[in-house]
Amino acid sequence: MRFGLLVLAILMVSSPECFSSSRSRRAHGASVFAASGCSHCHSIRNAGGHKGPDLSGVGRRLKKDQMRRQITGGSRLMPPFGETLQETELADLISYLRSCRDKQKK
Ligand code: HEC
Repeated sequence: MRFGLLVLAILMVSSPECFSSSRSRRAHGASVFAASGCSHCHSIRNAGGHKGPDLSGVGRRLKKDQMRRQITGGSRLMPPFGETLQETELADLISYLRSCRDKQKK
């Protein structure tokens, strides 16, 4: 029993990523958003481009799987990112977008 706890403690210390807080995952998602060129076309809170819709309130409109489909598959006007993003980058990007819940006029 003691031994099990010790193993668990060692696992937690040696693989911090599995236990990282949702807050740091969202922060990572925000940097993926910037680094992947999303902000070239999309604005969030008045920063970014306007080729695509403003995403400040996208967390109110879209569910996780809808976001995932849009991002990995793209559309006629948006390039697909399924090949360029790693799974953790995609997951963190989606947690970030889910947290963008500003009320918008449109
Ligand atoms: C070349 C411009 C361009 C880039 C780069 C781009 N998008 Fe888009 N995106 C669009 C356009 C245009 C739409 C509008 C809907 C459509 O055509 O599918 C869109 C739609 C979306 C939507 C759905 C919004 C809604 O309200 O339905 C999401 C979410 C999204 N993009 C996320 C991203 C993310 C995340 C990235 C970066 C990994 C990204 N986009 C990069 C142009 C772009």
